[in-house]
Amino acid sequence: MKPRVSTTVPETPPRISTIDWEGNAAGTLLLLDQTLLPTRVEPRRIDTLDEVIDAIRRLVVRGAPAIGVTAGYGAVLIARTGGDGYAALREGLPRLRTARPTAVNLQQTVDRIAALVARLEREGTPTAKLSGHLLDEARTIHAEDEGRCESMGQHGAELLTDGMTLLTHCNTGRLATGGIGTALGVITTAFHQGKRLDVYAGETRPLLQGARLTAFELAEVGIPCTLLADSAGAGLIGSGEIDAVLVGADRIAANGDTANKVGTLPLALAASHFGVPFYVVAPTTTLDTSIADGTAIPIEGRGADEILDALGPNRVPAGISARNPAFDVTPNALVTALVTERGVIHHPTTESIKPLGAPSR
Ligand code: MRU
Repeated sequence: MKPRVSTTVPETPPRISTIDWEGNAAGTLLLLDQTLLPTRVEPRRIDTLDEVIDAIRRLVVRGAPAIGVTAGYGAVLIARTGGDGYAALREGLPRLRTARPTAVNLQQTVDRIAALVARLEREGTPTAKLSGHLLDEARTIHAEDEGRCESMGQHGAELLTDGMTLLTHCNTGRLATGGIGTALGVITTAFHQGKRLDVYAGETRPLLQGARLTAFELAEVGIPCTLLADSAGAGLIGSGEIDAVLVGADRIAANGDTANKVGTLPLALAASHFGVPFYVVAPTTTLDTSIADGTAIPIEGRGADEILDALGPNRVPAGISARNPAFDVTPNALVTALVTERGVIHHPTTESIKPLGAPSR
């Protein structure tokens, strides 16, 4: 009998939205503080550009689509800083755009906002009305992401059958998006269709998005979840116990090469070797058709302290250095299928991805 984590959250904590906006354009951005989960379920109030950049960098909010949605609301905060909102946006949007480098959803949102701001300026919209327009746009971006998650869930659930045992990595659910999630959204959709599923969640060193967040979400929904040390994933795939691997993505190049949380590539290699399906679930806002393949995807390097202090202070010898790439790139040849809101592409290539075109609205 394999050891399980609890399938219910003790004393069910309040279900707080991952991203919310309180009030009108003068209101506040509320982010469920993911650095505190699962022990504390608390929203963090965000009122300034500096606070939103800090929240994105420290992973208060994380997951590619969620970062993109947050950036939409971040633009409202910039526009209402007083004085010339257009000038503030010209200065602030590039800073927001580079808060984290790998998730293209962030850049995609900021570019969309910049285009809207340019149009509003051309049309002579007064600066006092800017934040209202941007709040409308942020809410639209949020709702669109929610819709894409629903569609990915429906398409992806068709790949899953009753009784499957799945392996996933990092966190790709409601905490990572503006809706039900990408890979985890597929899993929860299939579960709600009545399919019985067992899910192994890789703990996702060093920041433990799998152990802290995916286990929390699966418990919220009531899906059986077993935690796995990241280094055990390939062996489990090789043992024949895993029917499919499902992951999300932070950026997908034109040919289908996929950047996702570090530790994804070893799972893809193992899945390919042992003939287990490896599914990438991501909205079209995660596609970056401006780059031909994964070699051009910028990989975020995070602080060495996240590795050195992962087990608490002074647990590694003094003076030891650490390298902390936050993502790795899985070549398209290892991807059995890419699930987007527009459907399933088997064995993605430049030719098969091209018809997806621009992100759907
Ligand atoms: O560093 P994070 O927690 O932002 O990394 C998140 C991931 O790698 C997810 O797998 C990815 O964003 C896809 S989730 C919808």
